[in-house]
Amino acid sequence: MEAFNEALGLASACLREGKVVAVPTETVYGLAANALEAASVEKIFTAKNRPAQNPIIVHVNDESMARQCVVEWPEVASELAKAFWPGPLTLVLAKAETIPDNVTAGGTTVGVRWPSHPFMQDLINTCRFPLAAPSANLSNHVSPTSAEHVKSQMDGRIPLIVDGGPTSVGIESTVVDLTDEKVRVLRPGMISVEAISAVLSDYKVEIDSDKGILKSPGQLKRHYAPNARLLVLNWADDEDLESQIAYSRTPHDRVCVIAHTQIVPGTRFGRVSVLPREAKAYAKALYDELYRCDKEGAELICVEAPPDDQEWDGINDRLSRAGG
Ligand code: TXA
Ligand code: MG
Repeated sequence: MEAFNEALGLASACLREGKVVAVPTETVYGLAANALEAASVEKIFTAKNRPAQNPIIVHVNDESMARQCVVEWPEVASELAKAFWPGPLTLVLAKAETIPDNVTAGGTTVGVRWPSHPFMQDLINTCRFPLAAPSANLSNHVSPTSAEHVKSQMDGRIPLIVDGGPTSVGIESTVVDLTDEKVRVLRPGMISVEAISAVLSDYKVEIDSDKGILKSPGQLKRHYAPNARLLVLNWADDEDLESQIAYSRTPHDRVCVIAHTQIVPGTRFGRVSVLPREAKAYAKALYDELYRCDKEGAELICVEAPPDDQEWDGINDRLSRAGG
């Protein structure tokens, strides 16, 4: 508790001074700055090498703070907030004037999220302003799920990294656009389309990550990518896998395999990891595996294709972009 309070004091002091700090959230680590100050937010773009046309999510600590960030708070936002906040869901709505243009990449909408991580909640409470925070990685890289991952990307670029342990969700929040009649999922995540539809029986919910590419330039084809080349494959056994990757001529000790059902012997490849078969536990573990592959100098990562199932939508989306 003492360490928690000390970190809270340090982080809130930095943020009040307009600095950028890396903080844990339940999804991935974020790179936070005062969302109401354009000059502070600018430092996020610099630290991440982030293109200016990619908008940043604003983190709040209750519904009333969320309402202050937007022009209008429709019924559908209330229903989703009631069902899923605090948690891994970002709502895109028409932005209020108080939100600087660089937060929204010059656009008229803003993404707001009330995170459930206790450190993030106490930090926003202490600062009493919302926090703009993208994932705490260099632009286009894999999002960090531990302080160590953040350090490997951001060391020397920011004044403070708060270590809150490994994150519990493991992939980024579901982003939902509420600015139209239809409710559009711009980025799938661990709150599935099914779960959202179940709450919004009166609305049509669409998965629309292609539209998302246009609406949010952040949804680039190759986005959540490790240094190594990543392939999503199915294989029958190690021989089959070997023949599928033979054309790449990657030395076998530079190949990492991430399996969850078709487990191959570890003797032929650099490393074989086995992730859980259940979507939630898999999501929590995935990015740590990708960081480990990079750290070990992998050239090729072969990921066993996950099920084509609603629960796995967020995971499949990230893997497809990581391979891009
Ligand atoms: O779980 C998360 O969402 C994490 C944690 C730190 O909260 N944040 C995160 O931020 O993943 P970032 O910047 O790495 O990804 C935010 C995504 C981007 O693809 C961005 O384009 C989209 O959300 N986004 C943000 N504001 C938007 C807006 N106004 N309209 C459409 N898309 C938006
Ligand atoms: Mg990101």
